[in-house]
Amino acid sequence: MNFQIIRYEEIESTNSEAWRLIDRLNSVEVQNGSHPHGSDCHTVIIAKRQTKGRGQRGHSWQSDLGGLFMSVILQPNVAAVNAHQITLWSAWGIAKALNTTGANVKLKWLNDLLIDRRKLGGILTETRIEGDKILYAVVGIGINWTNDVPESAIALGELPTTLSSMDELIEVVLKGIELGQTRSDREGIMGILAEYLEMLSDKNVRQMINGRELQGQIIDIRPTGELVVRWEGNSQDAIYQPQTFSVGYQ
Ligand code: BTN
Repeated sequence: MNFQIIRYEEIESTNSEAWRLIDRLNSVEVQNGSHPHGSDCHTVIIAKRQTKGRGQRGHSWQSDLGGLFMSVILQPNVAAVNAHQITLWSAWGIAKALNTTGANVKLKWLNDLLIDRRKLGGILTETRIEGDKILYAVVGIGINWTNDVPESAIALGELPTTLSSMDELIEVVLKGIELGQTRSDREGIMGILAEYLEMLSDKNVRQMINGRELQGQIIDIRPTGELVVRWEGNSQDAIYQPQTFSVGYQ
């Protein structure tokens, strides 16, 4: 895979910029009757700061100097019903790649990267769908590198790894995306899913219902991304759509 990196000092959001770029390229394509996207060249947008960084579920994403903020434009061969697989294989691939540097990155369904149960980073995947196909996916990745982080988070630059610069971190993250996409293209999602489950930071989950704490266990993640939880005292497993349930172990 080749990556063409476009860098900004400051931008609203690398994901938003990626969509602007896709729209611009498509309008050029319509005017010229040509196809400007090389299928093996993926554009990557990186910014030192974001003024309107976006997170999951409409949250904003704090984007101060020192953090990694990047978006990768993909045209994956994934059916629209399997759109969440892009986040699954990206998270798996990035965690695997980061772990080659001496870090011990774990996962939290669906899109979180954790170390020591603290948030290292997150992934925001957005897709453009036509019919049952994904035309484009923008995989937005935020990773704490040397930026200040709250108590519940952790910054990779503070930890003993072989990484000595943000550019090395970018290289490793892109290797992770490549690893995830290549394995998923070759073998499908099942092998990745099995390893993703093994890499979960915690399989025990908690939820407060009417002031009472309910305990449960993650028992599966479906190929379409849903989480399957077995709650104590319930005979039927609960199934959660991505982004409708927050795994409460942090
Ligand atoms: C999450 O909520 O955990 C996902 C956060 C994703 C943040 C990244 S930073 C780069 C890209 N641009 C954005 O506006 N968001 C993503």
